[in-house]
Amino acid sequence: MNVQNMKHTADATTVEEGLAIQEAQDKAFTDEMATETAMQNTLLTPRFYTTDFDELDAIDVSSVREDWDKLIAQMVADPNKGHFKKNEDWDHIDWENMEPQLKKEFIDFLISSCTAEFSGCVLYKEMKRRGNNEDITQLFQLMARDEARHAGFINDALREAGLRVNLGFLTQKKKYTYFRPKFIYYATYLSEKIGYARYITIYRHLEANPQHRFHPIFKWFCEWCNDEFSHGEAFALLMKTEPKLTSGINVYWIKFFLTAVYATMYVRDHQRPAFHKALGVDPDWYAHEVFTKTSKLSEQIFPITLDIDHPAWQKNLEKLHRANVRIAKAKEVGGIGGKLAQIGGSLAAASAFAALFFIPSKKHDVPESVRLEPVY
Ligand SMILES: [Fe+2]
Ligand SMILES: [Fe+2]
Repeated sequence: MNVQNMKHTADATTVEEGLAIQEAQDKAFTDEMATETAMQNTLLTPRFYTTDFDELDAIDVSSVREDWDKLIAQMVADPNKGHFKKNEDWDHIDWENMEPQLKKEFIDFLISSCTAEFSGCVLYKEMKRRGNNEDITQLFQLMARDEARHAGFINDALREAGLRVNLGFLTQKKKYTYFRPKFIYYATYLSEKIGYARYITIYRHLEANPQHRFHPIFKWFCEWCNDEFSHGEAFALLMKTEPKLTSGINVYWIKFFLTAVYATMYVRDHQRPAFHKALGVDPDWYAHEVFTKTSKLSEQIFPITLDIDHPAWQKNLEKLHRANVRIAKAKEVGGIGGKLAQIGGSLAAASAFAALFFIPSKKHDVPESVRLEPVY
């Protein structure tokens, strides 16, 4: 099939259709560097997940029916159909002459974002395929549809740089990490909401400072983050159906996931100084801004938020970042010296993470009604 004449992933109305388009593109053109990068499984790279799909399928949404139906109707209406493709707003990018460090970090950003989008797509699609519960399968079909479009659009941007993440290959070959359903709720809810907060913060910043918009993809971040917002809303409703998920011992799990998701973002972003400089964004400011928004949003369902203004918070994030740099350097050195330095770095990272985790959290009452609208 000729790629030029093919329907675009942005117009696909189901995840199956979106993936078929991707698969044809995989055959037409693929490259190893981007796919190998996407295959990596470290603490900091996006993973693929699998779970107990039967348990998820057993959820009864009757207790949140009114909000549920409204959200699903909104997603069925599909306001972003056709949005995620290049149009006249897409500016030409001179990849050849892009400053090499910026190019490297930006490509890394695109590959990692594409992998994360596709990770959601694969998990949601699998739930849709395995389930019998109509509410659940419908929701997961809709979310998988969106993530397939997002991943496809990032691959469009990568193609201009001569790169492509082979999504079919990833589906088959990337390692899947098993998470119990409740961990999927916490992790996925948070990744959707932090994804929203990240994209909207960059979008608003570039709206005010368009001279820093060094690539057109950022113009698409507004509608993009609204999709992620809706996905997060769906997980908030799912958690609302089972009060146990957000009380008792599970509050410690929530705290663990909040800490892990925030800390990972901090460390990952600090690996891309040239990228943030080009955007005109101080990564410490950006992190604090995104944590503030995500915390505010997550009050809709979580009874605690992290105390991100505690003096130990920033200090230990920096410690974690330095430990991560040490580990990366030690890996490059190799040999016994490198191994020992790697162990030292890992211990420092673990102690910084523990210090972050044990900062007392802020408690508050969760509202009766869960639903929020994207207001940032
Ligand atoms: Fe997405
Ligand atoms: Fe999403």
